[in-house]
Amino acid sequence: MEPEAVQDRYTKLAPHYDRMMSFWAPLDRWRRRAVAETNIRKGDTVLDIGCGTGKNFPFIEERIGPAGKLIGLDYTPAMLEQAARRVDEGRWKNVDLIEGQAEDVDRLVEGPFDGALSWCCLSIVPDCDRAIAAAASLLRPGGRFTVYDMRTTRAKGPLGWPLTRFAEWWVNHYGTGDPEADYAVAKPWKATMAKYLTGVTYREMAFGTLFRCTGQRPAASDVAVVETEGNRTPRPEENPPGRLQA
Ligand SMILES: C[S@@+](CC[C@H](N)C(=O)[O-])C[C@H]1O[C@@H](n2cnc3c(N)ncnc32)[C@H](O)[C@@H]1O
Repeated sequence: MEPEAVQDRYTKLAPHYDRMMSFWAPLDRWRRRAVAETNIRKGDTVLDIGCGTGKNFPFIEERIGPAGKLIGLDYTPAMLEQAARRVDEGRWKNVDLIEGQAEDVDRLVEGPFDGALSWCCLSIVPDCDRAIAAAASLLRPGGRFTVYDMRTTRAKGPLGWPLTRFAEWWVNHYGTGDPEADYAVAKPWKATMAKYLTGVTYREMAFGTLFRCTGQRPAASDVAVVETEGNRTPRPEENPPGRLQA
């Protein structure tokens, strides 16, 4: 989705977003799982890309505690206003909210991070390869990046037809994506993550409509191994932790 369209859409949705997402409250256990899969621990510094109204924040805060640090990045100021409200309500003193695009995250925030995650944002980012590269470059060696996102509206299995109709209705009604887009074809998630990260795992969920993908920035000693497996992983001197080299 083009940047102006994103801001336009999410500025309208921002005041209603949390209420609208309460329908999906049972899926909050997946938010907790995403945080767990990112291997976030007490005192860690964590980046949430496309944080929106901060729905992942409680689960991240639960893990990092007051000694940790959380940076939320989003392109829509109205979504960040809602996130700021959540931060006030949570009385978290360790959160910074940054306005900007996921593709530029390495220019907007200082790494390194112990972990990063992105929930339902990268599927609508035009240059998601660039966004993943930028996020990966901000990680400490061994730090994990986890993406949970929309794969397609076309659900598989016996409930495929009704679920597909429902997903199309939801996307058309709320405008949170493109019902015609097959994000999995347009954005080969696993291959893109594996360009910049190692030990990448990819799983589909919710009858194939959603996916989760996680990987870790290789430790300097792993780089040679990763390259022999055919992945293009930047060498540490080429791309030191904390900054993506252009
Ligand atoms: C579906 S919402 C998800 C919000 C949040 N991650 C959640 O789980 O509730 C998508 C968010 O991605 C943000 N977004 C879209 N394109 C972006 C981009 N290129 N860079 C940063 N944020 C972007 C939107 O402003 C919106 O807040």
